[in-house]
Amino acid sequence: MKRYHVTTFGCQMNVHDSERIKGLLESLGLGEAGSADDADFLVFNTCTIREKADDRLVAHLMDARAAKRRDPDKVIVVGGCWSESMKDELFDQFPFVDLAFGPGNIHRLGDYIQAGGEIPRGHFSTFDTFSGELPLKRDRDFQAWMQISTGCNCNCAYCIVPSVRGREHSRHPGGLIREAERLAGDGVRELTLLGQNVNSYGRDLRPAVDTSFAALLRGLDAVHGIDRIRFTSPHPKDMRADVIEAMAECEAVCEQLHLPVQSGSTRILKAMRRTYSRERYLALVERIREAIPDVALTTDIIVGFPGETDADFADTLSLVDEVGYDHAFTFVYSARRGTEAARMPDQVPDEVRGDRIERLVERIQHHATARNAALVGTVQEVLVEGPSRTDPSVLRGRTRGGKALNFTGTALAGALVDVTVTGSTSQTLSGRQAAPVAAA
Ligand code: 5AD
Ligand code: SF4
Repeated sequence: MKRYHVTTFGCQMNVHDSERIKGLLESLGLGEAGSADDADFLVFNTCTIREKADDRLVAHLMDARAAKRRDPDKVIVVGGCWSESMKDELFDQFPFVDLAFGPGNIHRLGDYIQAGGEIPRGHFSTFDTFSGELPLKRDRDFQAWMQISTGCNCNCAYCIVPSVRGREHSRHPGGLIREAERLAGDGVRELTLLGQNVNSYGRDLRPAVDTSFAALLRGLDAVHGIDRIRFTSPHPKDMRADVIEAMAECEAVCEQLHLPVQSGSTRILKAMRRTYSRERYLALVERIREAIPDVALTTDIIVGFPGETDADFADTLSLVDEVGYDHAFTFVYSARRGTEAARMPDQVPDEVRGDRIERLVERIQHHATARNAALVGTVQEVLVEGPSRTDPSVLRGRTRGGKALNFTGTALAGALVDVTVTGSTSQTLSGRQAAPVAAA
């Protein structure tokens, strides 16, 4: 039996695409290798969001080239966003690559194998199919991702994603509900909806199909067996009242929201083409907290966008203080080829960017610590993932707010249990399983 190994870079969308890649390979009779060394097919599912992602990948490709020199029968496959961004020069620069395709073209790998390696390798045929119809290999029985849309219609000045993932296409709501029912039938309790911009879902289907993100949430909430629904990432501009209402009213939709802000300065937000101001974002957060009081809020922030002054950065810090995020992903701005921001004057020097990210991370940590500490003494519903990887004597799971919680108890993986929180750090909670309440 031929064996494969998939190395995944980048976001959850890529992790999910890798589940499709693995499912496809297994449906064609390949088995998963324990390591890249043992594999006949070396697959790299790539990311290109920041320059660091590119650099890391190139190092991996050089290892693959060395492996292929030792064993010329190894097949090297490069999929995903970096592959797409490099399509004009990939085979010139990396001639040892056998097959390359973009994020929308996983089926190309199936075509290649079925044709015994005899397809023109330079042909990408981007965005022509939806890989959601491919088989899937999931890691956990009780959690699943569901890709509700592909692509992105935003014009964020820093972002390379629209050019590699194409225009937005929503999947039909009926198909999504059926998929959720099927997953629930297989034992899935928690669904995470994925999209480059989840809450603009459905706009491209209207008026032929009468749907919206809020309607989809309500439809999925009604699926028997799905106890938890999360989604990532929504865009603040599409976070309308109907979505907030659906979140508040749907029992399965978790009290958690990842709401990328990117900057706290209205001037920078404008240059980024985010289409909202600092004030509108803050007002939105207030409405969300009114509707869902204990919501856990997380965000993405970029420092050092071209033209960002000390005053702009101070606005970002003060926004972080005003919101008090549960957690945030922080990024140093990285110029990406072909984006509007890469051509802007006033690129911020490295040392300034380094200094700003340090100060930002410190502030984020401060709030994360405080938000977690406030949960000590409360009882949280936890979906058990199994024994903790670092200490097998305790169990690990996640709260509805998405926080990792290590606790003492006896529950099995996949169970929903109540846990009393007894301790916290900026990263995790700890606790003990609460005694079940006897029926009256
Ligand atoms: N430089 C730095 N960070 C970026 N992101 C997207 N593009 C860039 C870039 N060019 C960040 C944004 C986005 C997250 C996934 O990555 O914060 O929300
Ligand atoms: Fe995900 Fe963006 Fe990286 Fe593509 S470029 S894998 S969409 S983070």
